[in-house]
Amino acid sequence: MDLRVVALMAVVLLAFFSGIVAASRPGGELYIRPKPRKTLWLPWRPRHSSDPQQVHISLSGENHIRVSWMTYDGSSLPIVDYGIAPGVYSSSSSFGETTSYSYLLYDSGKIHHVVIGPLKPDTVYYYRCGGRGREFHFKTPPARFPITFAVVGDLGQTGWTATTLDHIGQSEYDVLLLPGDLSYADYMQHLWDSFGELVEPYASSRPWMVTEGNHEKESILLFKSGFQAYNARWRMPYEESGSPSNLFYSFELSGVHVVMLGSYTDYDVSSDQYAWLKADLAKVDRVKTPWLLVLLHAPWYNSNYAHQGEGNRMMAAMEQLLYAAGVDLVLAGHVHAYERSERVYNGVLNNCGAVHITVGDGGNREGLAERFCQPKPEWSVYREASFGHGELKIMNQTHALWTWHRNDDDETVKSDEVWINSLASSACFASRMPDLRKILMAP
Ligand SMILES: *[C@@H]1O[C@H](CO)[C@@H](O)[C@H](O)[C@H]1NC(C)=O
Ligand SMILES: [Fe+2]
Repeated sequence: MDLRVVALMAVVLLAFFSGIVAASRPGGELYIRPKPRKTLWLPWRPRHSSDPQQVHISLSGENHIRVSWMTYDGSSLPIVDYGIAPGVYSSSSSFGETTSYSYLLYDSGKIHHVVIGPLKPDTVYYYRCGGRGREFHFKTPPARFPITFAVVGDLGQTGWTATTLDHIGQSEYDVLLLPGDLSYADYMQHLWDSFGELVEPYASSRPWMVTEGNHEKESILLFKSGFQAYNARWRMPYEESGSPSNLFYSFELSGVHVVMLGSYTDYDVSSDQYAWLKADLAKVDRVKTPWLLVLLHAPWYNSNYAHQGEGNRMMAAMEQLLYAAGVDLVLAGHVHAYERSERVYNGVLNNCGAVHITVGDGGNREGLAERFCQPKPEWSVYREASFGHGELKIMNQTHALWTWHRNDDDETVKSDEVWINSLASSACFASRMPDLRKILMAP
């Protein structure tokens, strides 16, 4: 037989069998659940003590970026030099602050946060922290659609985390959204440092916008209030958005308003967070930002046995506000699995409600949440216990493509995909808007 015919047959057979393998996993039912992996051990890399380490960036008001990093000596300055060509720093900023914290026997390095800008959209900037050390670079988000968000929760720092991050790095995302549970340091403060090192290649090159999960709390009864390491290290633009706390805030970019809520701080009707959320939602201009997203840690719509019902109290307090504002999408973590809902409100299908998605499957050491409640609730469309990450590509003011990428034994496999239409462009929103807004504007 001709060699080319043999080769062709081999390819056809291979395609056939890989098709069978893929087909035997409808919704992942027959997929063999991978085991959790241990926390990575990052070898200590000795560096000059004032060289910047654990560099990460975040959005800080319109056209501005906050650069955060650590140093370990007494003289390093909070200053960032930057420009649009490598090695040429035409601008410099020292608008910021230096902080540090102590936790039991641990003393942190100096933590610097410097805001730079105004910056041009969709532009690569090269920068250097503290006037010395390595050069980093990042790309600013585009001014208009399309814009792509990478979404991943419950990251941790295991072998799964590393490959999930690798998959995210391969995608062309503009901003990363993290709905809580970052390092899984869990009181071991040096694990915040190793997490900072692990994510640096990604978090120094694209803005990382995070909100807190239960693993960020690290409180000790009568001795340590919560979120000390998280607030010192992962400073988010709360002042810029009129919030009194780093634990909840909002930001706006490229036609999208994103609200980051706190599942582990007060959210009742009389709380600061509730008052702030109501005022923030009332200010949203859906002409300027047709898309409205919310992130929080403990999901409100969850049909997994893990953490069942933990989001109920917050949902009872706040879901009506989100509904009144016409929130398109609520992204959560906490449950170590993937789940996507239909548009839903108050527990039942509703065209004017939000789509709820849980992506608490970044790869932490606790492993997957494999047991789902039966029967599947009406609102649940797709649920699967696998590691992975999501991508939200907002094409224009009406259409967005959501995809979920399973970390399939370290390969990235697109496993769920859905087009989402913005509520702002929908009939239900236009007709009911006046009534709904009354709820937001009420004193
Ligand atoms: C928005 O994007 C979708 C999907 O790419 C496309 O079908 C639609 O025509 C676009 N709408 C506008 C107004 O450009
Ligand atoms: Fe959690």
